[in-house]
Amino acid sequence: MADEKKEVLVSVRGLEQYFNLGKKDEVRAIQDINFDIYRGETLGLVGESGSGKTTTGRAIIRLYKPTAGEINFEGKDIAKLKNGSKEMQEFRREVQMIFQDPYASLNPRMKIKDIIAEGIDINHLAKDDADRDAQVANLLQLVGLNPDHASRYPHEFSGGQRQRIGIARALAVQPQFIIADEPISALDVSIQAQVVNLLKEIQEKRDLTYLFIAHDLSMVKYISDRIAVMHYGRLVELSTSDEVYNHPLHPYTKSLLSAIPVPDPETERLRKPVPYDASIEEDGQDRSMVEITPGHFVYAAKGEIEGYKAAAAAYNK
Ligand SMILES: Nc1ncnc2c1ncn2[C@@H]1O[C@H](COP(=O)(O)OP(=O)(O)OP(=O)(O)O)[C@@H](O)[C@H]1O
Ligand SMILES: [Mg+2]
Repeated sequence: MADEKKEVLVSVRGLEQYFNLGKKDEVRAIQDINFDIYRGETLGLVGESGSGKTTTGRAIIRLYKPTAGEINFEGKDIAKLKNGSKEMQEFRREVQMIFQDPYASLNPRMKIKDIIAEGIDINHLAKDDADRDAQVANLLQLVGLNPDHASRYPHEFSGGQRQRIGIARALAVQPQFIIADEPISALDVSIQAQVVNLLKEIQEKRDLTYLFIAHDLSMVKYISDRIAVMHYGRLVELSTSDEVYNHPLHPYTKSLLSAIPVPDPETERLRKPVPYDASIEEDGQDRSMVEITPGHFVYAAKGEIEGYKAAAAAYNK
C-alpha cells in the first residue's frame, strides 16, 4: 500500500474489555489497546491462544459493549452506539467478520444462496428475486465457486470451499472493513495460500480494509502491511510487516519469530526457539506503547526506551 495519503478508517483508543464471571471474578481480556487501521491496508493481529485477539475483533464490531475506550470508524465513536439504532445498523453492514471454522459458521440446513443472501435480505439490498439471484451468482464467481451450485447445501462443499462461501457472505452487504479471525487455521496447509490469495485479490477489487487475526507470524507476513503483536491482553509491538519480521524489538516478538520453522534445512538445524520470560514485566513499572522509530511502537517502560532505541539503531547500521 502506498504510504502517502494514509487515511485512518478505524481508530482504537484505550480499549478495555473485561468479562465478569461472577462476584469479583473478572477476566481482563484486553487492556489499553491503541491502534489505527488505514483505509485499504491489512493489519495483522498475532499472539498466542488467549492473548485477546478474538476479543479485540469482537469488541471492534461491537459484539460486546466495551468496558472502556473508544472505537472510531470513519470518525464516529462506535463504542457509544446503541443496539438497534440506525447508525448501529449501518455500522453492522459496513463491518463484517470471517470466522475460523467454516464448518460451524454455516447453517447446514440452508442452501448456500440463502446463506450468502441473508445480509442482502436484512438490509434490503436486492430489488427483486432475480436481482438477488444475480448478486449471489456474482459473489460466487468472485470467490471462485460455480454459480450453478447456488442451491447446494454446505456439506456438499470442501473446507476451503466453505470458507469461500463465508467470504461471499461477508462481501454480500458491500462492507468496507473485514475482520478475519483466523480464517485459514482450520484449513489444510495446501488450501491456506489459496484462501489468503483470494482475500488479497478481493481486497484490491473491492477496496477493502482488513484486520487479519492469526496465531503465528508465518502466513500473516504475506497478507499484512503492518503487524500488531498481542500478549496477555495487551499490544507489545506494532510496525510494518518488514520491521516486525526483520527488526523485532520486544522480546515477546522475538520469541514468536524464533518459533517459526524455516524451509532451509541448514538454517532450520541452527534455529533456536527463544523462550519469553513474561515475569520481566511484573516489575511494577508503568508501560505503554512508545514510538521507538517512526511508525514502530513497542510496549515499554520509561527506563527501557533508550535500550530499544539503541537496538533499533544497531539494526540500521
Ligand atoms: N465471553 C467470555 N467470557 C469470559 N472470558 C472470556 C470470554 N471471551 C474471552 N474470554 C477470555 O479472554 C481472554 C482472551 O480470549 P480470546 O478469545 O480473545 O483470545 P484469542 O487470542 O482469540 O485466543 P485463540 O488464539 O485461542 O483464539 C481469555 O483468557 C479468554 O478465556
Ligand atoms: Mg481467537
